[in-house]
Amino acid sequence: MPPPVGVDSLVMNKKQAVNDIIEEIDNTLKFMEGLGCNGFDCSAKSLDTIEKWGSDVTIADETLESIRTDIGNCKRCTLSEKRTSIVFGAGDPKARLVFVGEGPGYEEDKSGEPFVGAAGKLLTKIIEAINLTREKVYICNIIKCRPPGNRNPMPDEIKTCFPFLKRQLLVIKPDFICALGTFAAQTLLETKQPISRLRGHFHDYMGIKVMPTYHPAYLLRNANKKRDVWEDMKIMMKEMK
Ligand code: URA
Repeated sequence: MPPPVGVDSLVMNKKQAVNDIIEEIDNTLKFMEGLGCNGFDCSAKSLDTIEKWGSDVTIADETLESIRTDIGNCKRCTLSEKRTSIVFGAGDPKARLVFVGEGPGYEEDKSGEPFVGAAGKLLTKIIEAINLTREKVYICNIIKCRPPGNRNPMPDEIKTCFPFLKRQLLVIKPDFICALGTFAAQTLLETKQPISRLRGHFHDYMGIKVMPTYHPAYLLRNANKKRDVWEDMKIMMKEMK
C-alpha cells in the first residue's frame, strides 16, 4: 500500500533531524577531546572540564595554528559548498585589540584574508586613525565562510562556527574587542539590542572589554555615522592607554 501523502517528507525530516543531532554530538565530542577530556569517563580531568564548561577554559597547548588545523577543510555546515576560502583571521596572535566582523565577502572569499575589500580598506583607515596597524591588531569574523550573495549568516551556521572564534579569543587573550556592526555585536553579547544602543560604551565578553561600533560597510553607505565611530574609537584609545 503506498504511504499516505506527507509520510515520505515526514520520514525525511526525521532523518535530517537525527543526522543533525549526530553531527552536533560529533562536534561536541571532538571539541571536548581538544579540551583534553576523554569522553564521559568521570576522570578528575573530565569532571573538571565539564565543571568549567563554557567559562574561561583554555585548551592545553592550543595555538591559532592548531585551531586552524582543527577546522581543516571544514564541511560542518553548508556554507562550505559555495565558498572558495576559509577566512580564519589575520594579525598579531598576541594582539591587545581584536576586530570582529560579520563574515567574509566576495574579496575575502577569493583571497582568504579578512576585510580586504572596500569595507576592509575603510577598516584599515580606522585602525590607523587610532595609531595602530593591521599587523598590530587581530582581525576576524563571527563566521569563516562567505554566505552566498552576502546574505546574513543563519543561526545554525553561527552555532557551528562561533566556537572556533571563541577558541581563537581564548588563545589571543585580548584586552579589547571591537565588534563591527549589528551582527558581530549581537552575537558576541547575546542580545537583540540595536547597534545604535550598544555602541558608545563597553560591554563584557569573557572578561574582555567589548566596544560595539558601526560596520565599515555601513559607513560606506552612511558617511554621517563616521563621527560616531570616531567617538567609539576615542573611548577605546583612552581605555587602552
Ligand atoms: N565584512 C565583514 O564583516 N568581514 C569581512 O571580512 C569583510 C567584510
